[in-house]
Amino acid sequence: MRDYVSWHDAYDDPGSALSWRLSRVRHHITATLNGRPGEPITAVSLCAGDGRDLIGVLSARPDADRVEGVLVKLSPELAARARAAAGERGLRIRVLTADAGAAATYAGLVPADLVLMVGVFGNITDGDLEELIRAAPAFCRSGATLVWSRGRDDDIRDLNDAVRGWFAEAGFSELAYETMEDGEKAALGVVRYDGGPVPMDFARRLFSFVR
Ligand SMILES: C[S@@+](CC[C@H](N)C(=O)[O-])C[C@H]1O[C@@H](n2cnc3c(N)ncnc32)[C@H](O)[C@@H]1O
Repeated sequence: MRDYVSWHDAYDDPGSALSWRLSRVRHHITATLNGRPGEPITAVSLCAGDGRDLIGVLSARPDADRVEGVLVKLSPELAARARAAAGERGLRIRVLTADAGAAATYAGLVPADLVLMVGVFGNITDGDLEELIRAAPAFCRSGATLVWSRGRDDDIRDLNDAVRGWFAEAGFSELAYETMEDGEKAALGVVRYDGGPVPMDFARRLFSFVR
């Protein structure tokens, strides 16, 4: 697997695809919170890295207290960074050092109002990707917003039309699909879950990273 601690260094370059993606993800998290003023919101982020998307947004909001978030990540170093950043700002964010690919990890955490699947879809097999999207309703309360990303780099096929179709089949409406045409061809989507409650099968494996 990649060294995901140094992978985060690309965020230091404001022109990088990662920086573009971060700014768009933050924009959509902000839009979600603004669209539900005053409501308590639960958030769960799969493979959250150092959590700078959610932490960055909440740090700048006077109403951050109404958001309760859980960041799921494997790396203890990134988890420590996220804990420190969230703790300094007094955010209601819990950092769980756990396997985001095991459904059992989400017991008590789902369904949520905001689900982040950012930096996941390009790192798992096509089969796991389709299965994860079919399982996505179990992560979501009705009306939840889910933000996903998948680049269209040369080393992975552009599957994003299929991804968008799988979300539609699973009961999601697309709110946005955005692409960065330069550089690494980053892309992200935002969907809303319009279906009813679907129980999570906590015994199952959802995905494994292959790079
Ligand atoms: C591509 S990065 C994305 C990080 C973050 N979402 C972002 O956009 O900055 C993927 C992250 O997932 C973590 N990861 C890989 N497999 C994981 C697993 N099974 N459970 C939890 N985290 C995992 C990696 O350590 C890495 O931090």
